[in-house]
Amino acid sequence: MRIGVFGAGYVGLVTAVCLAELGHLLQVVEVDERKVEKLNNGTNTIYEPGLDELLESNIGRGNIYFTNDSRSVIEHSEVIFLCVGTPPMPDGSADLSQIETAVQDIIRYTRADEYKLVVVKSTVPVGTSKWVREIIHNETRDRRINIEVASNPEFLREGTAVSDFMNPDRIVMGVVSERARTILGSVYESFECPKIFTTPETSEIIKYAANSFLATKISFINMVADLCEEVGADVSLVAEGMGYDKRIGREFLRAGIGFGGSCFPKDLQAFLHVGKSKSLDFGLLEQVISINEQRPVRVVSKLTSHLNGLNGKLITVLGLAFKSNTDDVRESPAAKLIKLLVQEGAVVKATDPLSIDNFKRMYPDLVEKVSFFENANEAIGGSHAAIVVTDWKEYKNLDWRRIRERMIRPIVYDTRNFLNAEEMLGCNFEYLAIGKNYTQMTGTLV
Ligand code: UGA
Repeated sequence: MRIGVFGAGYVGLVTAVCLAELGHLLQVVEVDERKVEKLNNGTNTIYEPGLDELLESNIGRGNIYFTNDSRSVIEHSEVIFLCVGTPPMPDGSADLSQIETAVQDIIRYTRADEYKLVVVKSTVPVGTSKWVREIIHNETRDRRINIEVASNPEFLREGTAVSDFMNPDRIVMGVVSERARTILGSVYESFECPKIFTTPETSEIIKYAANSFLATKISFINMVADLCEEVGADVSLVAEGMGYDKRIGREFLRAGIGFGGSCFPKDLQAFLHVGKSKSLDFGLLEQVISINEQRPVRVVSKLTSHLNGLNGKLITVLGLAFKSNTDDVRESPAAKLIKLLVQEGAVVKATDPLSIDNFKRMYPDLVEKVSFFENANEAIGGSHAAIVVTDWKEYKNLDWRRIRERMIRPIVYDTRNFLNAEEMLGCNFEYLAIGKNYTQMTGTLV
């Protein structure tokens, strides 16, 4: 099938490359000319495991082509996926201007008697497909063109996006006609997972509800983690004990420093905004956000009491990405944590295997205040404490015994509960975790 994609960001690029891998013929509109050139040469522009190989092989097969000429892409395509950005506005609502620009182009370049299916894949507020339909209706009244709109949200996680695309739990398709249902169904024909056909409104809500629910699970377990610390319980075991119940499930119950990234924080705000705009009580989501915002604050406050204040103390932050296997630092808990540490007068050193450049670009106000190290060992030397913020497997494999000798005070605060606790205690670290109390004296849980 001839498919067009607007936007070669995370979602657009992964979607386009994976659809090409399925055998479709893809053309992708991207406004950034440097990106277009790189991608056509088979050079990936984002870090996403498995994507480099698929991009290269599909460029080689001629299944995918990038351009900034939207007209040629529209003329080429029977189906057009909109994967452009929908960044948050100051009031939390989503900015849909890039969607509107793409739709105007599609209206302009669709010829008389042609049919196009426009599929909204960007995360958009409920009602967006209807709004797009209205724009199309108003502007094409006098022309014999037939542009339909469908909703097809993505459920890709950064870091595993290719495998998530190729092995979906389900595919949700919001359509308003049999024709759209048949066409969109055949795009995903080769997948055997459950396929849910619904209205665009339901489909749009499924996306926000899914992300909001996952974020709710995380804030819930983080709330429980704080109680565990107070009473000497172990949050990982609480999560395990809960998670075996099939009604609850084990996923997304890892307590930690809170969720970040380009999706959960933005989507929660947008869903909250939609609820409020309908005068509904979405206060639950306010609590989810508030618990999340307090996570780095709590870490800094605990560290402050362990070190009798942070003024002048050397603190190493291990990990800047919002989670491992990505170079994405948007809404990263590391940025919030570093700001708080700096406010308390700490001298901050930071390291990350992939994200230092992105971090410097995204948080220019922190560049002068933090020393950055490519090498984690070097970053930790001479510190009063090291805080593990991103669960990079590299940090698990560090030679912690030797590192301990080079620290002024051997405090390791593992805000992801992912280092080997026994090993850390065996090396006589003061090992702090989330939702559990270890004692260095006995090496046991208290
Ligand atoms: C999320 C969803 O998981 C995807 O299904 C969705 O498609 C995507 O948003 C999107 O809307 O585009 P992503 O933001 O890439 O994907 O990352 P997640 O793996 O969901 O993690 C989000 C945050 O939650 C990270 O900061 C992670 O460290 C944190 N997290 C996750 C926890 O703190 N605990 C957990 O148990 C799980």
